[in-house]
Amino acid sequence: MRLDEFLRLNAPEDLAALTTAVARSSVDVWGSIPFKAGLLNETNPSGETQKAIDVYSNDLFVEALTATGHAAEVASEEMEEPAESKGRISVAMDPLDGSSNVETNNPLGSIFGFYSQRLPASGRRLVGALYVTYGAMLTLTFSFGKGVHRFVALREGGGISFQLKGVELKLPEKPEVYGFGGARKEWVPEVAHFWDSLDDRGLRNRYCGTFVGDYNQVLARGGIFSYPALVKRPKGKLRVLYECAPVAYINEQAGGYASDGKGDVLDIEPGGLADTSPLYIGNSALVHEIEERISRS
Ligand code: AHG
Ligand code: MN
Ligand code: MN
Repeated sequence: MRLDEFLRLNAPEDLAALTTAVARSSVDVWGSIPFKAGLLNETNPSGETQKAIDVYSNDLFVEALTATGHAAEVASEEMEEPAESKGRISVAMDPLDGSSNVETNNPLGSIFGFYSQRLPASGRRLVGALYVTYGAMLTLTFSFGKGVHRFVALREGGGISFQLKGVELKLPEKPEVYGFGGARKEWVPEVAHFWDSLDDRGLRNRYCGTFVGDYNQVLARGGIFSYPALVKRPKGKLRVLYECAPVAYINEQAGGYASDGKGDVLDIEPGGLADTSPLYIGNSALVHEIEERISRS
């Protein structure tokens, strides 16, 4: 089944239009990665030096999303203020996730949260979320609240179409992989102990340095991803609106749980657009276990 047909049957008009806009633009981003790897002398609101691909993908998605007439605003980790537009849905995006991985050709991603109210807003106001994975395949993984579905970009007749690759995706019961961001010496002690225990249980350490790539393999093989609280960064690194909440929404639809170390990530009420949170996401039992370990510390 093609993406346009699936959306016509399974999505409200506004989310269908926004998803189509992201799909079309993601093909352009994918093709531009080799030519837009250079560093700019600009920084984003989180103080991170921007890459040409960060800004290129940001501008492309802003234009495509606002042109649908269904985005009330488009907020981005690459912009101080949201782009204002007309429409019902407030979009929050990480236009290029994992940009430090461009030179090494590791997986990259784009993340979108579709919120039903103005931003900043809690993950409970999400009415949909989507992540793009740029790797050996270009895939779209998304949910509008009725399960997690995946489409893959296929070259056909000189063009590219998106074909259905999976419906009702669920985290496997048996956890198999784990990946933790940052450097071990930076982690709070209970995270290091938990990490050791996963190794003792025979889970496989799989970490690629891109949140979307690392979460995508947890969704496929079961397990846990974390960008944890660090001793010097107790609020972690990943942004609530643009990274943690949209993927936590998809993860919940896939039968998983995501925590900030104390409670559900989706319940966080971010005070600002660039607020960050520690993130533990994936199989519910493992995430509740690290929550319990942290509460005992
Ligand atoms: P972004 O490129 O959008 O800033 O995201 C990078 C994030 C995330 O993708 C990944 O999990 C994390 O940075 C990796 O951080 P470390 O290099 O500190 O491990
Ligand atoms: Mn980014
Ligand atoms: Mn990111």
